[in-house]
Amino acid sequence: MRIDVLTLFPEMFEGVFHTSMLGRAEEKGILSFHTHDIRAYSDNKHHNTDDYAFGGGAGMVMMAQPVFDCMEAVLAGGSARRILMTPRGRTLSPEYAMELSKEDRLVILAGHYEGLDERISELIDDEISIGDYVLTGGELPAMVLVDCVSRFIPGVLGCAESAEDESFSNDGLLEYPQYTRPADFRGRLVPEVLLNGNHAEINKWRRRQSLLKTLKMRPDLLEKAALTKQDIAFLEENGYEKQ
Ligand code: ADE
Repeated sequence: MRIDVLTLFPEMFEGVFHTSMLGRAEEKGILSFHTHDIRAYSDNKHHNTDDYAFGGGAGMVMMAQPVFDCMEAVLAGGSARRILMTPRGRTLSPEYAMELSKEDRLVILAGHYEGLDERISELIDDEISIGDYVLTGGELPAMVLVDCVSRFIPGVLGCAESAEDESFSNDGLLEYPQYTRPADFRGRLVPEVLLNGNHAEINKWRRRQSLLKTLKMRPDLLEKAALTKQDIAFLEENGYEKQ
């Protein structure tokens, strides 16, 4: 997949795109990253990219011209799914990330300032939010999106199942606790069941831990989780009341 990001701060992406799993995926040729400085496309003498809002009000508005010119230059290389990071967008979910992971090319616009000139929306296919809070710009959300989508692309993660087995994919439950060596760390012991090699017992324990963790941290997820009769009975023993 080719990923282009339109931003006022291309330098913010350097570390994230070229380190760790994303860096390795790029080396393997699975992903390619291209950042574009919107300011370089401003036809204004001072290379401004923002201006006052018509109608007044606090805060500056990102101008249409540099974004249109930047987007047109980037799309000259071929069509793409065009995404705007904005808190007013559709909230990112694993299903949405999986859908995007099937595209050949994403072009992501990281907005800045109090808002964008509304005419920019005509360049956009999807407006995406990473959650109900407002950040200072769309750069961090763009990085979150790229990281999240990449994990669903075959070959990006070491092990093919990893993206499936985690929180939010595990039948809609949060992940169970994990341990590694040593079995005794400063007197804190790994649960005995994990040490005895009985896989039926281990799977039962893990399922129950996932259920308890979800009940405690995200009871809302239980409404949509794929639960068996045994799961529900176990949850009810632990104080769960089905809606
Ligand atoms: N820009 C600012 N806040 C954002 C958010 N929560 N999601 C996406 N883009 C944003």
